Amino acid sequence: VHHRRDLIGIEHLDPADITHLLDRSEFYFRRLVSEEPLQKESLLSGRTIANLFFEDSTRTRISFELAAKRLGADIVSPALSTSSLNKGESIVDTVKVIAAMKIDGIVIRHRSSGVPDLVRKHLPDTVRILNAGDGAREHPTQALLDAATLRESLGDLAGKNILIVGDIMHSRVARSNIYLLKKFGAQITVAGPSSLIPSAFGNVFGVTVLYELDAALSQADAVIMLRIQKERQHGCYLPSLSEFRARYGFTASRYNNSRCIILHPGPVNRTVELDDDVADSQRSLILRQVTRGVAVRMAALEWIFSE
Ligand code: NCD
Repeated sequence: VHHRRDLIGIEHLDPADITHLLDRSEFYFRRLVSEEPLQKESLLSGRTIANLFFEDSTRTRISFELAAKRLGADIVSPALSTSSLNKGESIVDTVKVIAAMKIDGIVIRHRSSGVPDLVRKHLPDTVRILNAGDGAREHPTQALLDAATLRESLGDLAGKNILIVGDIMHSRVARSNIYLLKKFGAQITVAGPSSLIPSAFGNVFGVTVLYELDAALSQADAVIMLRIQKERQHGCYLPSLSEFRARYGFTASRYNNSRCIILHPGPVNRTVELDDDVADSQRSLILRQVTRGVAVRMAALEWIFSE
């Protein structure tokens, strides 16, 4: 049976597939950190991927581009802010035009939730779709790279206390991480201002919600700090960034009162989510996440094209 594979979200992904992706990413990660010059693979040679970022990004876009190239694929990363979208073409038409140029896979990021599914419906099955972040919904490769980073430091995730801090409401990173970590038995707490955590969130997602940081911090094995998404703060969700830092920021004094490892998807607002010393500390794994990101995307590209 022909089995089409896309990677649109973590929510409906089988834990066995997640484990497979993490294990394969480990294989690629070893190569990325080895002293040897990186040999280009030919696994995806002859495949062409379109890297469509309808929302700004630097690291995720480059990460997918490098992952594709290192597997031997051709990849185009158009500057979409100057494309025909600005001439009024719909997103579905733009994607159909690109797919008609014999494209095998589309990596897509869009500010609206649900766009990868919409695109899926309008393209032939032979074109694989990989979600690089849709609105406040999912960012599956981010959750995979975070899990790979967490596994490296913590081992088995079952029973580990993972604390996710900040702008939960606007965060696809939080949602994808919660779906993934729950499948592996981690205990998840989310903390942040009540204006940024909808009241139903705890019940809907099966996590503990706290509006205060310090009690949870001392128990945490790992903390995932989220970026304050200034571009999504259209309502007045925060009194001020300095008040956010005082109540929820990972300050130097909180560092001294905790033992957890620290993750952040980037880009970091320094002195808001993380003090400088904390961002650059021993327990900060931010750059490890970046390297793991390339490895995870290599594994994800391999996987979507493997059947
Ligand atoms: C995240 C994203 O875009 O969802 N960043 C990323 O992928 N590097 C988180 C964020 O923008 O806050």
